[in-house]
Amino acid sequence: MTIQEVAVWISVAGILAIAGGFAFVLARSRPEEPYARVQPIAYALRFRFFLGLLVAAVAIAAWTLPRMPYARPRSAYDPIVVDVVAHQWRWEISNNSYEAGRPVLFRVTSRDVNHGFGIYDADRRMIAQVQAMPGYVNDLLVEFDVPGQYQILCLEYCGLLHHGMFSPLEVVAAAGSGGEGR
Ligand code: CUA
Repeated sequence: MTIQEVAVWISVAGILAIAGGFAFVLARSRPEEPYARVQPIAYALRFRFFLGLLVAAVAIAAWTLPRMPYARPRSAYDPIVVDVVAHQWRWEISNNSYEAGRPVLFRVTSRDVNHGFGIYDADRRMIAQVQAMPGYVNDLLVEFDVPGQYQILCLEYCGLLHHGMFSPLEVVAAAGSGGEGR
């Protein structure tokens, strides 16, 4: 199952749970209870609900924040600098072949309108992205661990031939362990 399918099923389960909740309330609805009797029960439920949310938020943040997918290069900060210019409708890339394990600093801009610079691996999974904006240079630091063929796809609708805006990237196995700088 792909991650998108998992997301769909989680959404469906959530929708059914909410619909079930409404049906339950509807089935159990009776004439109005006095407020003084209902209030303490509702406040206790609300307190538990917020306490649960707080615990879940802290746990999820503690689990996910250290795994933030932003580039944190393990090797010395000596990136290959690659200039990327987006045009309607093509990518101009100063160098599209890199060594695995060596950080690559993409300096991304656009000549015309906003584009989205998205890097995908051979399984079409996105590994990094940044906006390509006219008048700005956005830096994107990526370390490719796995050699192979990658693709740049435009991530933002930018006109008639947006869908044709892709360009290959190649990551080759590191030559020896020394890794000559360039
Ligand atoms: Cu460039 Cu869409």
